[in-house]
Amino acid sequence: MIDKYLNKVICGDVLTILRNLPDNIVDVSVTSPPYNKGENKKGWLVANVKYSGVSDRLPEDVYQQNQIDVLNELFRVTKPGGSLFYNHKLRWERGQLLHPMDWLRKTRWVIRQEIIWDRMIAANIRGWRFWQVEERIYWLYKPNGKSLIGDELKPKHALLTSIWRFPPERNNPHPAPFPLELPVRCIYSVMDDKKEGLVIDPYCGSGTTLVAAKILGHNYIGIDISEEYCRLAEERIKNYEDEIRFAEEEIAKHVVSKTFKQRKEAGEFTGKYSKLNRDKPEKLHLFRTSEIKQG
Ligand SMILES: C[S@@+](CC[C@H](N)C(=O)[O-])C[C@H]1O[C@@H](n2cnc3c(N)ncnc32)[C@H](O)[C@@H]1O
Repeated sequence: MIDKYLNKVICGDVLTILRNLPDNIVDVSVTSPPYNKGENKKGWLVANVKYSGVSDRLPEDVYQQNQIDVLNELFRVTKPGGSLFYNHKLRWERGQLLHPMDWLRKTRWVIRQEIIWDRMIAANIRGWRFWQVEERIYWLYKPNGKSLIGDELKPKHALLTSIWRFPPERNNPHPAPFPLELPVRCIYSVMDDKKEGLVIDPYCGSGTTLVAAKILGHNYIGIDISEEYCRLAEERIKNYEDEIRFAEEEIAKHVVSKTFKQRKEAGEFTGKYSKLNRDKPEKLHLFRTSEIKQG
């Protein structure tokens, strides 16, 4: 039954398609849903993000309930021990903060980590707030048995830290793609050198996650409501070899240049902050306000 969907881009509504998939088949999902932004007011640096198949403007409570339903369907189709990387951002509606945690906590997923994606560019050029240069990536986990923690990442992946820094994709006709590095980092970190897993992106847009999955040797399922984007994704997957070098640049970042033992032997920082401050009081001294020169 799954053969009908395997290594395909399916054009249709995310919930309708997901409901046709069997339980416990997906290893890892990477996705960025529509944000319900309706960013058409003055002050936005980016052009209004308009998708070709659907409007990105719903009553916020309807939007959040829809996201909860999609996330719970993704939970059902994911294998125990599997992961979902969910890219979203902080938004404000009439001064009120709308935080992804508002609905993530209402889903079945264990929230394993909140990763900051420093996009190195601001979307909002007005000064109501400090320019928002970051988005969030939520690493969501489906427990395998009773443990809510799951397997450890290999050090070469964990060392990439919880702040990821790369600019948004520019060379892509889709209005809101993420860069290839992002799904490559997510998939490679949790799957490591395993192959032939199943990766799904239920809002696949131009197919960035699917290209990453293919390059890393996995099967994929893509879903998008827009026929135009489905065609775009299929075309990209056909030419995936053109993008291998970008994925390789990301993979090359997953290295351990020095082990913990080597750093300890060289007297370098090993992660004990209290010890660092005791040994190097001058670090704290720098921040004493009485020391700051006036005028
Ligand atoms: C932020 S974009 C994803 C971009 C993608 N990550 C990429 O790199 O190209 C969100 C996508 O969700 C799709 N979409 C919106 N509503 C949908 C729905 N109900 N079902 C399926 N896809 C939907 C839009 O067409 C759009 O391509």
